[in-house]
Amino acid sequence: MKYNRCGKSGLLLPAISLGLWHNFGAGDDAENKRAMCRRAFDLGIRHFDLANNYGPPPGSAEMSFGEIMRGDFVAHRDELIISSKAGYHMWDGPYGEWGSRKYLLASLDQSLKRLGLAYVDIFYSHRFDPNTPLEETMGALDHAVRSGKALYIGISNYPAKAIKQAAKILKEMGTPCLIHQPRFNMLQREPELEGGFDAALAVGMGTIVFSPLAQGLLTDRYLKGIPPDSRATENGSLKSEAITPKMVERSKRLNALAEKRGQSLAQMSIAWNLQHKAVTSCLIGASRPSQIEDCVKALDHASFSNAELKAIEKELAA
Ligand SMILES: NC(=O)c1ccc[n+]([C@@H]2O[C@H](COP(=O)([O-])OP(=O)(O)OC[C@H]3O[C@@H](n4cnc5c(N)ncnc54)[C@H](OP(=O)(O)O)[C@@H]3O)[C@@H](O)[C@H]2O)c1
Repeated sequence: MKYNRCGKSGLLLPAISLGLWHNFGAGDDAENKRAMCRRAFDLGIRHFDLANNYGPPPGSAEMSFGEIMRGDFVAHRDELIISSKAGYHMWDGPYGEWGSRKYLLASLDQSLKRLGLAYVDIFYSHRFDPNTPLEETMGALDHAVRSGKALYIGISNYPAKAIKQAAKILKEMGTPCLIHQPRFNMLQREPELEGGFDAALAVGMGTIVFSPLAQGLLTDRYLKGIPPDSRATENGSLKSEAITPKMVERSKRLNALAEKRGQSLAQMSIAWNLQHKAVTSCLIGASRPSQIEDCVKALDHASFSNAELKAIEKELAA
C-alpha cells in the first residue's frame, strides 16, 4: 500500500480506503463482511469509512463494523483510521438530519455506541446545510475534537465556496479541517469542473473521493448484462436503468484501454482518480474480498502517458 499525506496535516491515508455504505447492513453475510475487512487490513487498507445512516437499516453498518472491531481488530485500534458522518436523515423529528449542533453531536454519540469506540478518527459533516449558519456546524465539529470524541474533522459534499469558508472558520477556531469527501470518477467530475479540488488544495485540505468506480459502472461488472448479485439489481442507489446500451459500449471501450495497460477496468479507474493531484485517497466499496484485491493492484501501474489520458478523454466524450 502507498500512503499519502492528507493535505497539510500530519496524517497519512492509504491511497485506497474501504467504505461500508453497501454490503455491511444487518442482512448481509457476517463472514463476508468480516473477510472483506480482514483482507483490506492485510493489504494495507487501514482506513474504513462509515456514516450514521449506512445499512440498511440505518446504523447497522456501524454495528457490523463494531462487531468486527471487537472480534478481529481490537488489538489494532492504533493502526486504523475509522471515520463516521452525520448529515442525512437518521431519525424522525427536527433534530435527526442536516447540520445543527444538536443533531451532529447527538449523532456522534450514537455512532460511538454502535461502533463500540471511545472516539472516531475523522468525524464529518456529511452535507452542506444551507439553512444552518456554517459557524454552528463547524463549531459542532470543533467541539467533537475538543471533547475527545474525534481526532480530526472533515466535510463531505460541500460546494467549493463553502469548503473555503469552512476552512477559514475552523482555522480561527484552532481545529483545522482535515479533509473533503466528494464524489468523483471518470463519469462524474464535479469537483474537478466546479472548483472543489482547487478549493481543498488552496486551503491545505486533503480530498478522499467516493464512488471512484461509479458504483460498479467503471468496472467489468456490467459488460455482459446485469449479474444477479450486482448492485444494479437492488435498484437502490444504482438503478438498473443506468445500465444502458450506450453505457455498456463505453465501458467496453474503456475496458479495452485498460487491457492495453495490462489492467482491469476497476484498476484503471482507480489509477485515473489517483493521478489528480488533489486526490489523497480513493474510497472504494466492495461486495467480496476478491474485488478489494483487484482494486489494490491498481497501484502496481498507476501512472499514465499523455496518449493514454487523451484516449480515455476521447472515449468519455464519445
Ligand atoms: N460522503 C458521501 O455522501 C458518500 C456517498 C456514497 C459513498 N460514500 C463512501 O464511498 C464508499 C464507496 O462508494 P461506492 O460503494 O459507491 O464505491 P465504488 O467503488 O464506486 O463502487 C463499489 C462497487 O463496485 C463494484 N466493484 C468494486 N470493486 C470491483 C472490482 N475490482 N471489479 C468489479 N467490480 C467491482 C462492486 O459492485 P457489486 O456490489 O455489484 O459487486 C462494489 O460494490 C462508500 O462505502 C462510502 O464509504 C460516501
